[in-house]
Amino acid sequence: MLISQCFKEQCFRETSDRNRHSASHKTQSNTKKHKTHLIDIMPPFTSHIFICCNHREAGHRRGCCDPDETEELRNAFKVEVGKRKLGPLVRANKAGCLEQCEHGPTVVIYPQGIWYGKVTPADVPRILDETVIGGRILEDLRIADACLNNPQCIHLQQRTG
Ligand code: FES
Ligand SMILES: [Zn+2]
Repeated sequence: MLISQCFKEQCFRETSDRNRHSASHKTQSNTKKHKTHLIDIMPPFTSHIFICCNHREAGHRRGCCDPDETEELRNAFKVEVGKRKLGPLVRANKAGCLEQCEHGPTVVIYPQGIWYGKVTPADVPRILDETVIGGRILEDLRIADACLNNPQCIHLQQRTG
């Protein structure tokens, strides 16, 4: 069965019968129904985890979150999310530099806006169990408010002089 997606009026519904589906657009008293199925198909993420995999050459003054270019941390998230069968509610995505290099390896969890630093693969199970599932912040990993996006942060000052 051929499944295609309808892009008419931002419908996005998948259909195997494009003609019949198109006809349905004409008969619907429109906006309300479209809103309904737009909501139906929106992925209901509970957490979207962004893992910095940015690599810089050794000796760079800001350092980087993935010095070996292995994406080991991101892979650990993918494995542990899979083990807990959290997909598709939880997604673990590779990110470029999150501008928290001095606190890295850096991870941010949205929509909660929780920033973790110095994260290692060994931390991944408890991030998922405690924070993503349990809703608890791991204070030992949390990037302090005084550090987050603060050019005066002592760690940034130390690195860049
Ligand atoms: S290199 Fe990871 S936050 Fe900048
Ligand atoms: Zn800092």
